[in-house]
Amino acid sequence: MQERLEKLLQEGLDELDSAQGEYGLQSWKVKYLGRSAELSEVTRSLGEFPKEERAEIGRRANEVKVALQTAYDSRAGELRLHALEQSLSDDRIDVTLPGRPIARGRIHPSNSILRQINHIFADMGFQVYRSREVETDEYNFELLNMPPYHPARDMWDTFYTTEPGILLRTHTSPGQIHVMRERAPEPIRVILPGMCYRYEQITARAEIQFNQVEGLAVGKTITFSDLKGTLISFAKRMFNENIGTRFRANHFPFTEPSAEMDIECLVCGGEGCAVCKKTGWVEILGCGMVHPNVLENGGYDPEIFSGFAFGMGPERIAMLKHRIDDIRYFWANDLRWLEQF
Ligand code: DAH
Repeated sequence: MQERLEKLLQEGLDELDSAQGEYGLQSWKVKYLGRSAELSEVTRSLGEFPKEERAEIGRRANEVKVALQTAYDSRAGELRLHALEQSLSDDRIDVTLPGRPIARGRIHPSNSILRQINHIFADMGFQVYRSREVETDEYNFELLNMPPYHPARDMWDTFYTTEPGILLRTHTSPGQIHVMRERAPEPIRVILPGMCYRYEQITARAEIQFNQVEGLAVGKTITFSDLKGTLISFAKRMFNENIGTRFRANHFPFTEPSAEMDIECLVCGGEGCAVCKKTGWVEILGCGMVHPNVLENGGYDPEIFSGFAFGMGPERIAMLKHRIDDIRYFWANDLRWLEQF
């Protein structure tokens, strides 16, 4: 038996030397150290040996087992190290290779103009007030001095919801009532930027969604000169210091008197072209003194308070500034267009 054990040890060590890889190593372990390995058989059947040999065989069998286990552990360590080195050299990263270019986002032209507008008015002491896009008929029309069936409602083709009296705001003006009701009787100086919606035929000049920036100032001594001064400074900062501006009388139900502001055509410099329809002027906003009824609806006594308001379209302004000839580009998400800004 002793001989058998020595042979087992020798064979085991030899075979271990040539065992390759994780699989080879595992098979070796099953064969030499597993539960049905020959060595385990010997230990299990010790009782069958003559008494005087038993102790000696048991001791030697144990030594062989320890020797094989030790050899196995060191071989397994070697193989693991080898595998690690292999993977480190195979998957080596070449840090000198140029990186993959990162696709950079850009600010959308609408947002970029909105930011400029916010900035200019912030410098004049206007706060930004956010108002809701889903409105009631009451706020979008009635409280702005347009009762049901008022003919001026025709100026705003409206998306109604299936909920009676609930609609998508057609302009940012209903925000005026929200601010006034929140702040009365404190003085107000805010701009209200945001998306508006109209149920319109989409053309190069009209979209069903667009931004507006509303402005509202309410106080005890506010005059039409304040309105003009504010809007002329705005135009100078938005376009250029020498831009020509003019105010034309107009009608809006929520202001009295009402006006529209034109700027000199940036494309032809006032000479007359297709953009300004040969007039040399382009309209950029509507404005006026807040109508007494609207002040009252907002909680201000029109005998004591007055105010001015205006509303402009940032996309229109962006179109003038960048000579964009079709408003549909703004929401078409065509990267070739967006990447130009
Ligand atoms: N809400 C008007 C529109 O959508 C624009 C406007 C005109 C706003 C005059 C005003 C204003 O605040 O005073 O066409």
